[in-house]
Amino acid sequence: MNPGNAQTSPSASSLHGTGAPSDWSPSSWRARPTVQQPHYPDSAALAQTLGELSALPPLVTSYEIEALKGAFAEAARGERFILWGGDCAENFADCTSAAIAARLKILLQMSLVLVHGTRKRIIRIGRFAGQYAKPRSAALEAREGVELPSFRGDNVNRPEFTLAARTPDPTLLLRGYERSALTLNFIRALVDGGFADLHHPENWDLDFVKHSPLAKEYQHMVDSIGESLRFMESLAGGAILAMQRVDFYTSHELLLLEYESALTRQVPRREGWFNLSTHVPWVGLRTSDPDGGHIEFCRGLANPIGVKIGPDTRAEALLRTIRTLNPSNEAGRVLLVTRFGAHQIGHGLPRLVRAVTDAGLAVVWVCDPMHGNTETVVPTSGNWAGRSVKTRKFAHVLAEVEQAFEIHRNEGTVLAGVHIELTGEDVTECTGGARGLTDDDLSRAYRSSVDPRLNYEQSLELAMLISRRHGSGSKH
Ligand code: PEP
Ligand code: CO
Repeated sequence: MNPGNAQTSPSASSLHGTGAPSDWSPSSWRARPTVQQPHYPDSAALAQTLGELSALPPLVTSYEIEALKGAFAEAARGERFILWGGDCAENFADCTSAAIAARLKILLQMSLVLVHGTRKRIIRIGRFAGQYAKPRSAALEAREGVELPSFRGDNVNRPEFTLAARTPDPTLLLRGYERSALTLNFIRALVDGGFADLHHPENWDLDFVKHSPLAKEYQHMVDSIGESLRFMESLAGGAILAMQRVDFYTSHELLLLEYESALTRQVPRREGWFNLSTHVPWVGLRTSDPDGGHIEFCRGLANPIGVKIGPDTRAEALLRTIRTLNPSNEAGRVLLVTRFGAHQIGHGLPRLVRAVTDAGLAVVWVCDPMHGNTETVVPTSGNWAGRSVKTRKFAHVLAEVEQAFEIHRNEGTVLAGVHIELTGEDVTECTGGARGLTDDDLSRAYRSSVDPRLNYEQSLELAMLISRRHGSGSKH
């Protein structure tokens, strides 16, 4: 996150703004069918909360958003690589110093590994500071003959199975906004205050994976980067200050349209409307209908927009979505986040890549190797013997990324980055990896209430394997 913002930047006039279409407004989505929205029984309380939210300061600036869009355009040309990651869902209780620092640390370490291997600048994006709402496959949950609204994330309702807890409470939107601000404040302070300074290798130490088979290779990378830095500095005759900080961007699924429109603003001396709740919102698979409210809302935003696509995405619908979001074919505006699963990507992705390429549409291709690889297993021993558990196999995650690289290489397009569900903690939610976690290990430290995440060591391993196979020495 860069300090300063467009309102005071002398170079502001050289950045292009994107004016919203004349038939769009932050509330034009209301005329479209919308799915996955909570029903708030107390509409006066909702109106009051939205009024408060729309008067509160933004979480990010238009300057940062425009800088990110420019960086995405470079990534689409293969000049940068996107590392996008974080929890499936954040929760309010995890807004703690330790959890935030751990998340930042794993993303930084992965990006170091990737920069070393790919020799490209890395765009770091967290699924954090606002990832508090989840789409659900059913609006209601039934238990023992009782039906209540499904839990939709801490921004909407509470997980306990009581009517009071499950009734959507609009004041939670304010609590979510505040926690997003607290998270961002701490992240900005850490990245500006030397947490990411390559001159301080102690910040780059591996924690509990010191004895991992990966540790030696990782340490070798850190040492070699440190040596190169010292060499450059002796040539330059002083510290390279640019190495003391890094840029970090935020993202979350753009799901709750009331919340997102309350944080969508115009800013002085820029054209268009910016969603200032995050840098890059994405539209999930369940809300990506080109005629639905979510795409209508995103159409008028100046932010870059991610769109998830998968095995059921039809080419004509996808082309319509892209043209709706990006009529001027601006580079860096639309990111297609593909999540097919290791067994379906080979069949599903090439046809969509060809359709987009043949139509001459500018997009940024990103691989999400998580959401198409979720499966249910039943451990045979351990605390969870005989129970169904949601997991993902590391080998499938890796195989999907590998195939994505290969498909884009064959099609003459660029895989610009990866979107991963991960945590900086030592959880056991996905199986496999260097430590060979088995189904029976899942009960040991399974903490996610939603999707299973790669743990610290598995995340680092994935970054190393991507780096090794797609580094500067490879054909890509
Ligand atoms: C997610 O990213 O957590 C998610 C729900 O993904 P998708 O919309 O791709 O299923
Ligand atoms: Co998820």
